[in-house]
Amino acid sequence: MPADNVILVGFMGAGKSSVGRLLARRLGRCFVETDDMIVAREGKPIPEIFREHGEVRFRELEAEALEALRLKAGDVIATGGGFPCHEGRMEALRDLGTVVWLAGEFVDLHERAGRTGGRPMLAGRAPAELEELYRTRQAYYQRAHVSVDTSGLGPDQVVARVLAVLRRVHAARV
Ligand code: S3P
Repeated sequence: MPADNVILVGFMGAGKSSVGRLLARRLGRCFVETDDMIVAREGKPIPEIFREHGEVRFRELEAEALEALRLKAGDVIATGGGFPCHEGRMEALRDLGTVVWLAGEFVDLHERAGRTGGRPMLAGRAPAELEELYRTRQAYYQRAHVSVDTSGLGPDQVVARVLAVLRRVHAARV
């Protein structure tokens, strides 16, 4: 695995940011978020990008962020919930390192995602519509190298599970 990054994918509210930050600290690696890369590049927060330029533009910026990720090695990378959900995207991520899906039940993720603001994909969408989005996206997330069930777990416990899974993947590779 040349680039050897650890890449977290999963639906909004899966804990990619909090788990990623802790995981990076535990591994002594740098932590990068694709959303932060986009915000830094555009100089405006995500809701503003959606409001002013629309979702299509945001997805283009995600494609640009993917190009920038190709320069990374040894980092822990948290992706936005929709980042891997395009044809060929998961394969591109798999080339950059070990892709870990933080999986969970829709009700839990929805509840957690709704607790903090700044998520334009939640705005104006009924729970049923979001559940449909969740189901559609599972097909992409499933292409991760490994998955970790986060149900009922706090970030520390999820990190412990991710570390165990990474050790297993690593052992299988050597
Ligand atoms: C999105 C998820 C967000 C962010 C943007 C779009 C999505 O990231 O990238 O608001 O389409 O699911 P989180 O998964 O960190 O909330």
